Amino acid sequence: MKHDFVSSRIRLALSGLCLASCMLFTPAVTRAEVSLPPPQIGEGMPVMQALAKRHTSRSFAEAEITPAQLSHILWAADGVNRPESGGRTNPAALGVHSVEVYVVTAGGISLYQPNSHALQAVAEGDFRLTTTSGQGFVGEAPLTLVYVGNSATWEESGRSLPAEKQVLFDSVAAGAMAQSVALAAAAEGIGTCVRASIDQDAFGAAAHLQDGQTILLAQTLGVLP
Ligand SMILES: Cc1cc2nc3c(=O)[nH]c(=O)nc-3n(C[C@H](O)[C@H](O)[C@H](O)COP(=O)(O)O)c2cc1C
Repeated sequence: MKHDFVSSRIRLALSGLCLASCMLFTPAVTRAEVSLPPPQIGEGMPVMQALAKRHTSRSFAEAEITPAQLSHILWAADGVNRPESGGRTNPAALGVHSVEVYVVTAGGISLYQPNSHALQAVAEGDFRLTTTSGQGFVGEAPLTLVYVGNSATWEESGRSLPAEKQVLFDSVAAGAMAQSVALAAAAEGIGTCVRASIDQDAFGAAAHLQDGQTILLAQTLGVLP
């Protein structure tokens, strides 16, 4: 059972951009971006109803997650909700937004760019099973988000903390992000499963992670049956 989450046009664009840039750059981390539709903030289910629906799901329908739904999910994860200050939908210790959201689909891996509300291509191919250490449903689900802390962001902020504190604060932030995603997803009829069971080496290699990047949490999503 195969699922596609992005429309064929966006997926083709992501693949093409990644392929072109992979030929130009080594490693294959690229600057190619695909814009997401803007989030529709005036729409949606009341938060109390979304909370009433939240639960862990590990089996999904064959339906796709649409670009509009993906836009809502990623905006809930780490979107800019106060453009005047650059503030995000989720809190961050000392205001340092050091947790990045990798987006893993059947077509490839990309990195969410909160400021441009876009996806930056990272790798082409189906790497969904690298995000799990053995849960088969992850390889069939249309979308997995991987929350990764980045010590370089702490260093650049000038507010560096001891490494264990950074990972602790980043983990708390990732939990907040995942719960926002769970609620936004529940409001769209999309189920979620947060997961600590991740093949760290396999995903680190697939996503070209560098020293100082720490895989914190994964979250698999799919349309509810
Ligand atoms: C930090 C954390 C790690 C988790 N890791 C996994 C996991 O690796 N695989 C999985 O299937 N569920 C995982 N879960 C989901 C829990 O199993 C689930 O939340 C729990 O059974 C309660 O069910 P509910 O979310 O439907 O209330 C994790 C939850 C948390 C908070």
